[in-house]
Amino acid sequence: MSASAVDRYAVLGNPIAHSKSPAIHSAFAAQTGQRLSYERIEVPLDAFAARVGELIAAGYLGFNVTVPFKEQAFALAQRRTPRAQAAGAVNTLMPTSDGLLGDNTDGAGLVADLQRLGVQLAGARVLLLGAGGASRGVILPLREAGVARIAICNRTADKAQALAIEFGIAVQAAESTDTPYDVVINATSAGLAGALPPLPTGAVAVHTLAYDMLYGAQPTAFMQHCSGLGARVADGLGMLVGQAAESFALWRGVRPDAEPVLAQLRAAMK
Ligand code: ATR
Repeated sequence: MSASAVDRYAVLGNPIAHSKSPAIHSAFAAQTGQRLSYERIEVPLDAFAARVGELIAAGYLGFNVTVPFKEQAFALAQRRTPRAQAAGAVNTLMPTSDGLLGDNTDGAGLVADLQRLGVQLAGARVLLLGAGGASRGVILPLREAGVARIAICNRTADKAQALAIEFGIAVQAAESTDTPYDVVINATSAGLAGALPPLPTGAVAVHTLAYDMLYGAQPTAFMQHCSGLGARVADGLGMLVGQAAESFALWRGVRPDAEPVLAQLRAAMK
């Protein structure tokens, strides 16, 4: 490579056309004075491993990985961080001299966003709605942030039970609870269909932060419902920027400030 070659990064997914990652990483690069390029690459569904190999051979220095390849990225990684291991999924890849490193920055992005929102995680009671990959990925980072109790509630109770046993956390029945939670996180995909996740009566009180991992120009059905119960609400745009900041820090050794980039994205969505 010539000395003037720009360091290359990309987000890999299918579909990928609407990914905000190029805008986020370009903003981080400008903010931190780093010279790099960041592309979206749509990878054929049956060609993930081959494409990653080709891109590494072409000199790419790192990748974000999104739907539907996070489990394949996990399998492809030759080394994994503990948080990627716990998540069973990888959203960040980096070729190193010791092989391809797989990390998962989603949970750290969530924790950073909750902190930005002023949530005191140490000692907090957190309810996770959903028992898929999105929930699994955030359990270890929440615990490491000092959360006192994590409970999980899911439409299919068996899946909540299995995750609870694996991580040593509690199951919350979908019907009701006597003690409200400090934070209730919607990690289900119910909102994609405009539906509400299972939410036990009594789980949300006025002091609760109701956080939806989904985001959009309008509040989600879950956010609207919880606003109606008097809770403070937030969507997952800050988590998206937070996970990107963690990936950027891993690749570049420089931690960008997520806040102005989040404000920029929010303004562009209006
Ligand atoms: P992800 O990787 O995004 O977590 P997933 O593994 O398919 O995706 O998990 C989707 C989660 O959303 C599951 O917890 C699912 O509940 P079930 O285990 O009962 O399937 C939940 N979910 C999806 N659509 C839902 C709906 N309409 N109502 C309630 N929960 C829903």
